[in-house]
Amino acid sequence: MFEEGTKVDALAEILSRRYGEAPQIAVILGSGWKELASHLLNDTYQLDLSGLDNWPAPKVEGHGGQLVLGYLAGTTLRVGLCTGRVHAYEGYSAAEIVRGVRSLVHWGAKQVLLLNAAGSLRPSRPPGSLMPIADHLNWGLPNPMQQGQNCGLGANFLNLVDLYDPTWLKALCAARSELSPGVYAGCLGPSYETPAEIRMLQQLGADAVGMSTIPEAIAARALGAKVMAISLLTNWGAGLASSQPSHEEVLATALAAKEPAVAVLEAALRCGAEPASFK
Ligand code: HPA
Repeated sequence: MFEEGTKVDALAEILSRRYGEAPQIAVILGSGWKELASHLLNDTYQLDLSGLDNWPAPKVEGHGGQLVLGYLAGTTLRVGLCTGRVHAYEGYSAAEIVRGVRSLVHWGAKQVLLLNAAGSLRPSRPPGSLMPIADHLNWGLPNPMQQGQNCGLGANFLNLVDLYDPTWLKALCAARSELSPGVYAGCLGPSYETPAEIRMLQQLGADAVGMSTIPEAIAARALGAKVMAISLLTNWGAGLASSQPSHEEVLATALAAKEPAVAVLEAALRCGAEPASFK
């Protein structure tokens, strides 16, 4: 087996042995989403992922390596909220970035919901609004299917048409009429983009720009999971409306947008649930 596959297999095995049934939906929370979501769940059980062998530890302020397992209130839908994420800009490899997602899917999660903070590229999408991702432009993030990064557990030359599950997306947009799906551009970071790069991304058709999500979406798809991703737009892209993006602004906007963000997260979980999970 691939070396990475051995690590993913061992992590899935530990999660299964210690915590039993896998969540149906695994949620990866990005910067600004920490603390927002746990109260959506009942009967929660929290575990510290940093204690697990080979689980990459996040290094950025605003992220923590924990998994909260529980049931979406009023349903039998088992959900896992993963409050840590590692990024390419922290020096991690593609395999490390997606190891958590791969382990959760290999454990048994059938759906993956990826949340992130992103800069807005469109006047119609002010900071504080939410954007479900319909498609992406990969502008510098590493690909986890690359030789040496793959885990040998799924497809290799992967088709990315409908990567972001259209049925799940449609259901979310029907439930929350203020949402309009858009294209996410993924850049390596950690510096924010230049104003010229922002103008280029706008012209290429991107609606938002961030530094995560794409590798995890590809890895989850390769293992057969359904994927949804939602950006919380925390700032205007560099140079738009004289914007000088900063990590402080990203965290402050995310905090201020807490309530609508949690409402959209809840709607996404409810839309993703099979009808049988409702009590
Ligand atoms: N650019 C890249 N990543 C981001 C941004 C941005 O403007 N805001 C939040 N994450």
